Amino acid sequence: MSNASVGDWNPNRNKNRAITIHSFKGGTGKSNLSANMALILAERGWNVVLLDFDFRAPSLNALFQMNSIKYWINDWLAQRCELNEVLVDLSDRYQTMGKFLVGFTNPSGKAINEMTMHSLDEEWQARVLQLVLDGKDLLFEQYGINFQIFDTSPGFAMSSINAILAADDPILVIKMDHLDIVGTYHLIKGVYDQTLGKKPELVVNKVPCSMLQNPEDYKRLKSELSLKLGIEIIGIIPCFCEVMENMGRHLFVKKHPDHEFSQSISRLAEHFEKGN
Ligand SMILES: Nc1ncnc2c1ncn2[C@@H]1O[C@H](COP(=O)(O)OP(=O)(O)O)[C@@H](O)[C@H]1O
Ligand SMILES: [Mg+2]
Repeated sequence: MSNASVGDWNPNRNKNRAITIHSFKGGTGKSNLSANMALILAERGWNVVLLDFDFRAPSLNALFQMNSIKYWINDWLAQRCELNEVLVDLSDRYQTMGKFLVGFTNPSGKAINEMTMHSLDEEWQARVLQLVLDGKDLLFEQYGINFQIFDTSPGFAMSSINAILAADDPILVIKMDHLDIVGTYHLIKGVYDQTLGKKPELVVNKVPCSMLQNPEDYKRLKSELSLKLGIEIIGIIPCFCEVMENMGRHLFVKKHPDHEFSQSISRLAEHFEKGN
């Protein structure tokens, strides 16, 4: 593993999308979806950067089983290092065709407290937004990155809002849970519509298999939810015991590429490959 440096590779295809994976509630599957989809895109030859933007519950370091990180995203945002020094090149580890770079967030209590203290600091947040926007240009233009994926904190966290502001494809993930559906409705109206002027797309995750017995069930669920929330549903993913049994110890799609969960993530990746 090494840190990223300019000129290591060239843009392979003409696509630059920044995707945020966000939700109203925690535990909807954002980190798992972000990491597995990022890997699939890199396996298919796209240059991908995955960034842990969940400063309350950073989890990518555990998911990728990282034990020595020189610079965290925390250091980049505090201007103690440059963005390229944060990115760890995992292309060799996962044998991806495209570049697979990941930026990790420090999960220590001290670092989480530090980030929490900055959460309402307007000057800090304005600087974070500028760093994210500049970083996006740098990654797309100088590093030839095709997809930049942000795994974010749930709800109204300012760091998530900053990433969403920079996003081309803001994605919301929900579970089949009444409280989550109602909360997501308010998040869409209050934050995405009124404050950000963005229209997110929706992934419905962890749907009980009893609700998805035949293709008609998928269609019905899709039209019901899209009517209720006023946005497009781009993925419906069943709840799989095998994913839970994996306990976040590996990237599921690498270990079980033929599993239905992996196929669902693969279809999601195709949605972004086909987009503008
Ligand atoms: N489709 C699924 N089926 C079963 N378990 C899932 C599925 N998607 C995610 N999970 C599990 O849900 C839990 C929360 O996922 P995580 O990605 O950490 O959510 P978040 O980042 O939104 O908090 C994890 O234990 C994960 O393995
Ligand atoms: Mg998470």
